[in-house]
Amino acid sequence: MKLYNIGILGATGAVGQEMMKILLERSFPVGALRPIASARSAGGTIDFGGRPCTIVEASDDAFEGLDIVLGAAENDIAERFAPAIVKAGAVFVDNSSAFRLDPKVPLVIPEINPEDVKHHSGIISNPNCTTIVTLVAIHALAKESPIESIVASSYQAVSGAGKNGIDELYNEVAALAHGKSFEPRVFQYQIAYNVIPQIGGEAYSGYTSEEMKLQNEGRKILHLPEMKVSCTCVRVPVVRSHSVSVVLRTREKISVEHARELIAAAPGCRLTDDLASKIYPMPLDTSDQDLVFVGRIRDDLTDERGLNLWCCGDQVRKGAATNTVQIAELLLEK
Ligand SMILES: NC(=O)c1ccc[n+]([C@@H]2O[C@H](COP(=O)([O-])OP(=O)(O)OC[C@H]3O[C@@H](n4cnc5c(N)ncnc54)[C@H](OP(=O)(O)O)[C@@H]3O)[C@@H](O)[C@H]2O)c1
Repeated sequence: MKLYNIGILGATGAVGQEMMKILLERSFPVGALRPIASARSAGGTIDFGGRPCTIVEASDDAFEGLDIVLGAAENDIAERFAPAIVKAGAVFVDNSSAFRLDPKVPLVIPEINPEDVKHHSGIISNPNCTTIVTLVAIHALAKESPIESIVASSYQAVSGAGKNGIDELYNEVAALAHGKSFEPRVFQYQIAYNVIPQIGGEAYSGYTSEEMKLQNEGRKILHLPEMKVSCTCVRVPVVRSHSVSVVLRTREKISVEHARELIAAAPGCRLTDDLASKIYPMPLDTSDQDLVFVGRIRDDLTDERGLNLWCCGDQVRKGAATNTVQIAELLLEK
């Protein structure tokens, strides 16, 4: 079997660490594994399935000999090193939002648009985590009848802001329990016992950058360039798994029963929908696995062609690391 040399840019972060777990879990044919991070981490060692791997500082020379680089760092780092990665002959599968809307860069959720991966020229983008969770939940409905519009509200876990986001929630809970004060650093305000209705800066007419991603990325992934999305993104004191309340309108009416059948059969989804038995998706149940759970499916009382649903998924795994490794698997098949 051919083995592939894999680099992880941002290997010490929340997503990078998860990528290593998932490469092992899915038995990805890894030859050499090169963890790449900042000068702060360089020289340290990371265990990869019993193999100690030395962390390399990101530089233009750090990508030589690699076949695939999985990106798990912020936009500025991805932009800074993408040319060196492509020059080294590796394919860059990137988690940042730096290249997602570039027409030359495929934006791929393997359960939805795997064929788009073919058109890459060295860079493939992984969509935003809330976009992945939402689109995995609703793509079977879009296939049945094109989605015209979505109104969504997200309930996003602190791990969406990386390892520092998780630490901030735990530290605030501990400080409050001991009557100590603290200064929020990662989030705009105290996140413990609070919700914050802002993720990202203002991007368009009162909407934040995070809120516009579901529309802009959703159009590209579903191949629905006219789809309209109005989104409100909210940070909640949940450690892991994003939840999204979705109200969508399709071109033709889809009944609740048929929507349940479509979602139950859709790749990547698990139907958990029985209100009478208190069965619905919750972040504690969806963390540390790859399926998006979908429930609370019901008619929208304000629109004859509307449906309401609630979905939850682990945004560090399916919303980032797993989806990236799945994209890399598509490259192997190719
Ligand atoms: N967390 C999520 O749920 C999630 C979901 C989807 C997408 N994403 C995206 O995935 C990316 C990583 O997010 P994360 O949550 O894993 O962040 P994180 O936990 O803060 O990790 C950031 C990583 O970037 C590295 N880094 C920082 N400065 C660097 C530099 N100058 N050169 C090279 N590496 C550098 C860090 O290395 P050091 O440890 O050495 O500082 C660390 O490995 C971001 O683009 C994020 O938007 C995150």
